[in-house]
Amino acid sequence: MGTLDGKVSVITGATSGIGARAAEVFAAEGARVVIGGRRTDEGEALARAIGPAAVFHRTDVCVEGEVAALVNRAVETFGRLDVMINNAGSPSHLTGIMDADVSLFEATLSVHVSGTLLGIKHAARAMRDSGGGSIVTMAGIAGHAGGYAGLDYSVAKAAVVHLTRCAAVELGEHGIRVNSVSPGFVLTGVFAEGRGTARGDARVAGLRHFMADMEHDQQPLPGIGAPDDPTAAMVFLASDAARMISGQDLAVDGGLLAGRPTAVMLAERARIAGIVSGGGTVTGTGTGTGTADA
Ligand SMILES: NC(=O)c1ccc[n+]([C@@H]2O[C@H](COP(=O)([O-])OP(=O)(O)OC[C@H]3O[C@@H](n4cnc5c(N)ncnc54)[C@H](OP(=O)(O)O)[C@@H]3O)[C@@H](O)[C@H]2O)c1
Repeated sequence: MGTLDGKVSVITGATSGIGARAAEVFAAEGARVVIGGRRTDEGEALARAIGPAAVFHRTDVCVEGEVAALVNRAVETFGRLDVMINNAGSPSHLTGIMDADVSLFEATLSVHVSGTLLGIKHAARAMRDSGGGSIVTMAGIAGHAGGYAGLDYSVAKAAVVHLTRCAAVELGEHGIRVNSVSPGFVLTGVFAEGRGTARGDARVAGLRHFMADMEHDQQPLPGIGAPDDPTAAMVFLASDAARMISGQDLAVDGGLLAGRPTAVMLAERARIAGIVSGGGTVTGTGTGTGTADA
């Protein structure tokens, strides 16, 4: 028996990365899945690989009619909608405030914030008609602290966290729960313009080294996140086990938002003590230098 037996779900941005893995795991847990995304070949191939429990429906989350049609496809194909995963997302534009380009900023907000709003809006309509459901939005640690992604992405993810709370307090009376998941560093194509690096790409090895350096000084739990990690949180929030949980953000970040690893702080203190007792100058912080969209 699966955790999501009998549930009908929609997952946006499920043509690669976290969303694609979520589609596989949701189906394995007994759900039927409508896969959203713009890349038709990838989406149809994933639906074929999963089998009769999945269909692909081409969807750009920035276009309201397409999001409405995605939700309608779930109801027409599988009879209802129980779970909506608003996962679609695009990478940062890495420009600073003084070089900000409003059109690029708005493009990022359109995918992450307006796309999520449209997903909540149309899912809520279908869920109200069937007595309730669970909506999960995809936020990220960049929505909780600066410096983990470009300005546009960070602002968008912060908005997703608050949009989630606002939707939760409004939709609760219909039996609809709304929660967000905030992954830390997860090795996917979002680090390569959203294309291709999620599975079996040679570039993954280089990214893995880079991300290992990055997480070492910032993340209390060792290791790089995998798509399975946020997916497990989505399965839980979608399931009946979470029936009294709404308006929450669940960080899946190796403890990163809790603070820096104590061992890093102790190493810094030891260096400071060495300087104070023996003289010398501080030449660096010892912290990682990379940033990525999380
Ligand atoms: N990887 C991380 O470390 C990390 C950390 C925190 C949060 N996140 C978030 O997790 C989510 C999934 O990202 P990922 O890491 O799995 O990267 P990914 O493999 O690039 O997945 C992004 C997905 O979003 C879809 N997408 C992009 N723009 C879209 C649009 N306008 N309409 C519909 N779908 C669209 C892409 O599909 P198409 O190109 O086919 O449309 C793709 O399936 C994103 O919201 C991302 O911000 C990732």
